[in-house]
Amino acid sequence: MQRILVVDDAEINRELLRNILEDEYEVDLAADGEEAVGKLKEHQNRTAAVLLDLHMPKMDGFAVISRLKEKGWLRRIPVLVISSEDAAEIETRCLAMGVSDFIHKPFEASIVKNRVKNTAELFACKNQLEQKVEEQHRIIEMQAEKLRESEPFNRLMMEYRSAIMEVETRLKVLNGEFSQMYKRNPFESIKSRLKTPTSIYEKLARKGYPVTVESIREHLSDVAGLRVICSFPDDIYRLADFLTKQDDFILLRQKDYIKKPKPNGYRSLHLILSVPIFLSNEKKYIKTEVQFRTIAMDFWASLEHKLRYKKDVANTVEIEEQLRACADSIEMLDYQMQDIRNKIDLSDTAV
Ligand code: GTP
Ligand code: MG
Repeated sequence: MQRILVVDDAEINRELLRNILEDEYEVDLAADGEEAVGKLKEHQNRTAAVLLDLHMPKMDGFAVISRLKEKGWLRRIPVLVISSEDAAEIETRCLAMGVSDFIHKPFEASIVKNRVKNTAELFACKNQLEQKVEEQHRIIEMQAEKLRESEPFNRLMMEYRSAIMEVETRLKVLNGEFSQMYKRNPFESIKSRLKTPTSIYEKLARKGYPVTVESIREHLSDVAGLRVICSFPDDIYRLADFLTKQDDFILLRQKDYIKKPKPNGYRSLHLILSVPIFLSNEKKYIKTEVQFRTIAMDFWASLEHKLRYKKDVANTVEIEEQLRACADSIEMLDYQMQDIRNKIDLSDTAV
């Protein structure tokens, strides 16, 4: 039997609620907030819902909600407030604090029964789902650990690292030549990263591919990743062109999210290149992903990335809307800056 905790300072209410619920649940009672928190400490894993009065001595209902929130229990245990408070602000405040439902006193037995049942069932499903996700994460971590210990996998990572160095060198050479010819740098900085074993495993599993060295080679193109940050949009195309023209680099795929931005506003130029690396007794081609963006696009993408991976962000829709608007302003700004730079360059040549 699932357990329900009824918290109310009036004995008559506690008894009424116990009568309503005891056919279907094991009902425990608390006469104030302190007692409720103590009981939850002991039985939090077995508690399916809390019915909570607001006005109580020692610790009131609001303080109980805050305490449960602090301890992270409110995400797992639904709280239904039962109160004689009529003011909409009080109900709104409770709901904003994370309460699942608000029942007005005097209450109707069948309404209490059904609301408790619906809320407890919903939370049980949510908790089960979260447990499954956690379990999945544990499996992914274990498999990733196995990859880390495997010799062929580590050799493969060495090859990807070499490919990164190879592309970095070509870019630096172009940078040197460009600065000498035009007195400025075609890019501001290069960042590189090797995909982690966890993320490699997770991506292969998600796409339904086997987790083997051959499969990584065949199906993943972003294990070796470079990000080239440029000042102006035309530098991006110039650099990408220089890089793809290198006679031993093969362009496998190009995605131009600058000409055709993603619906969220994401802009960057992505190249998937096949890059030769030279080992002691062979030459091997390795897939590498190179992303080109302006400083402003990069600023945007890091913030958007944060939103994507952060849990429980409030007002997501509003933030997404704002981000989309910012992406458009950034595009305008990038081209305006490029325009100004062209004018400065022109006046340079005029002198
Ligand atoms: P992934 O499975 O995410 O790698 O996508 P994909 O292989 O279909 O390729 P895509 O070109 O769409 O994305 C490649 C990489 O670009 C991602 O791993 C991110 O680093 C970056 N990226 C793509 N879309 C977005 C976006 O909307 N926002 C941000 N911040 N980064 C993005
Ligand atoms: Mg990718």
